[in-house]
Amino acid sequence: MAARRLGIGVIGGGFMARFHIRSFVGVRHADIRGVVSRRRQTAEEAAALARRLGVGDAMAFDSVTAMVADPAIDALWICAPNFTRVEMMEEIVHAIETGKGTLIGVACEKPLGRNAAEARRMLELVARVGLLDGYLEDQLFSPGVVRGKDIVWTRGAALTGPPYIARAAEEHSGPHMPWFWEGELQGGGVLNDMMCHSVEVGRFLLTPPGAPRSALTPVKVTAHTSCLKWQRPHYAEILAETSGGKLDYLKRPSEDFARALVEYRDADGSPRIVEATTSWCYVGAGLRLSMELLGPEYSLSVNSLDAGPKVFFSRKVVGEAGEDLVEKQNAEVGLMPIVSDEESEYGYVGENRHMVEAFLAGRRPEETFADGVSVTELLMAAYMSAEQEKTIPFPPPGLESFVPTVARGTWNPRVT
Ligand SMILES: NC(=O)c1ccc[n+]([C@@H]2O[C@H](COP(=O)([O-])OP(=O)(O)OC[C@H]3O[C@@H](n4cnc5c(N)ncnc54)[C@H](OP(=O)(O)O)[C@@H]3O)[C@@H](O)[C@H]2O)c1
Repeated sequence: MAARRLGIGVIGGGFMARFHIRSFVGVRHADIRGVVSRRRQTAEEAAALARRLGVGDAMAFDSVTAMVADPAIDALWICAPNFTRVEMMEEIVHAIETGKGTLIGVACEKPLGRNAAEARRMLELVARVGLLDGYLEDQLFSPGVVRGKDIVWTRGAALTGPPYIARAAEEHSGPHMPWFWEGELQGGGVLNDMMCHSVEVGRFLLTPPGAPRSALTPVKVTAHTSCLKWQRPHYAEILAETSGGKLDYLKRPSEDFARALVEYRDADGSPRIVEATTSWCYVGAGLRLSMELLGPEYSLSVNSLDAGPKVFFSRKVVGEAGEDLVEKQNAEVGLMPIVSDEESEYGYVGENRHMVEAFLAGRRPEETFADGVSVTELLMAAYMSAEQEKTIPFPPPGLESFVPTVARGTWNPRVT
């Protein structure tokens, strides 16, 4: 007997929506059946991509409500920009509460909200209409992370004791769209944009396999942020030009570098540390994800740029700039790594397979909106620490209503 299939509608038709659509080539029992975006053309193009890849008979829809109302659509994947999160979720909930249609679940890209209040609102909304909720943190499903964690815990940790430090870094040369660079629209700078991955993958690696999130309790957060590259006049000018004059990094920058130390206690009160580093000022082959897990007699290391084949092109190979070797590619000549299957290696295939299986089984996924709230709270504590230049005991007072100065447009490290 054929298994039931999950009909999926995608909200947003941009970079991330297309990454998810491509990943469904490796996911069973699901079809992409709709895409809605701000512009009809973007939705048409993303839907055409799904049809071309054979991952669903996708059509462009005019609204989120229309996708909820379509009986062929069982779940929505939110891949629109951060500043539309709550608005999208409110429309979904309104459509369900007014009887336009039903859904099984909603999966939402990172970050769940621009701040703790928005993330909590997302959780409240999804719970109010009884939907299953998946927080889309792809790195937890990256095969290198999953397999590495499994081997470290079943061999090294089982025989010599649990790991105590997880390090995670995500770095590239800067986001592809102007809204990411604008603190108010995005919620912050690189800390909000990319440290959501690093703090969560670090916590995941330190958590015993199968144990709940509560196995580790965060107790302190120490962070530092800076704007190292993009506030230099030449680079600030580039941002002003590419945003049609909207971005002014001399007056209203966002941080392009951030680091944080999150101190946890395990069930016995032993310390565990996540050390996270992120930047938009790393110019290498392209996006670089690196993780380490250190324990008493072992270590694990993962580096997305070291895992696959390499090519060499001499200076006589002069062609178009592209991203055919790796996401956020910076060069076309010399010795360069290829990330052969980005959708799989970054974790999107495993993530979407898991979300589909959980939704079809009527089960909450392993990564939920509640986890998205926890991640956002850690990030906000990190902003507090960076702003106050001190270690913040967790959870600090005022966390739920805190909005970083970079999101309020008042952060400028050059003005002291
Ligand atoms: N997991 C990861 O590693 C990762 C990586 C990148 C991004 N993300 C997350 O994914 C989300 C989307 O990022 P992206 O890179 O795809 O951004 P993007 O390339 O700018 O695409 C966003 C898409 O959403 C559409 N959109 C804009 N406003 C909208 C609205 N009000 N209603 C419906 N659609 C709207 C855009 O519209 P039109 O083209 O139709 O105008 C565009 O197609 C963000 O939350 C981001 O943080 C995650």
